[in-house]
Amino acid sequence: MLLLAKSAFAAAPHREMRRIADMVALMPGVAKALHCFSEQGAPSLRDALEDVRSGPYSDIIIVPLMLPLEPGFVNWLTRSLRRWQAETSKPWPMVRIARDIAQSLHFEPLLAALVAGTAAEPPVLPEAGHKLEGSLVPAQKRRVLVCEGGACNAAGADVIWGHLRNRQVQCKLRVKGDGTMTAKSTCLGPCSLAPVLQVFPEGTYYGGVSEAAIDRIVHEHLLGGKVVSEFAYAPTGRKQQLRRPHPTNPEKSQNPGEVK
Ligand code: FES
Repeated sequence: MLLLAKSAFAAAPHREMRRIADMVALMPGVAKALHCFSEQGAPSLRDALEDVRSGPYSDIIIVPLMLPLEPGFVNWLTRSLRRWQAETSKPWPMVRIARDIAQSLHFEPLLAALVAGTAAEPPVLPEAGHKLEGSLVPAQKRRVLVCEGGACNAAGADVIWGHLRNRQVQCKLRVKGDGTMTAKSTCLGPCSLAPVLQVFPEGTYYGGVSEAAIDRIVHEHLLGGKVVSEFAYAPTGRKQQLRRPHPTNPEKSQNPGEVK
């Protein structure tokens, strides 16, 4: 069973997710329970799937612990699962996605218990003498913008964002090399190349970005200073499409993809 949350940054929510997973692991019929994150936090959904898919399990159940559970998220989840399954020839266990929490018969009693419990909680009072805090201006010279426009979202921009943010922590990108900051953006322009990200200060556009492409961009461009030409698209003054990968050598994916 994989308990899927969107993101967590601090240690406390990670501990909380582990606690919930430990609870679920004790339920009858559950051989293993892990927590994971669709956007940012470790392990990512993909890493958790890798962990369980080669185990002795007949079914993997993904339980999204989020409200509201948007249909777009379930579509994205289904498409991502199909893509990850297609990347390997080894058979996968059956993967199922649990229904929306809000549709559960137990949702109403749960809300009632939460409301009843507020009587014991201290009230939130306005803070006296609130002082404005200052901010540091970041010294990092690099920026990565991950497009979260419509086409890129439909192509899995959230996964790309989550993977990049996890790598940012693991590879200490904020302090290594020239230092890298990351941010989400609205449409960056070349929607046909979705999912798209742009690396500054060069302004390099990367298209058709996958998790594997992120790993290369991190090591070769953000840390090594060298553009990863396999995924890069330069302005040409003409419309461009994604290049098709070379059948035997991905380094030679040279179909220029220009639309006349
Ligand atoms: S939606 Fe991402 S480039 Fe337009």
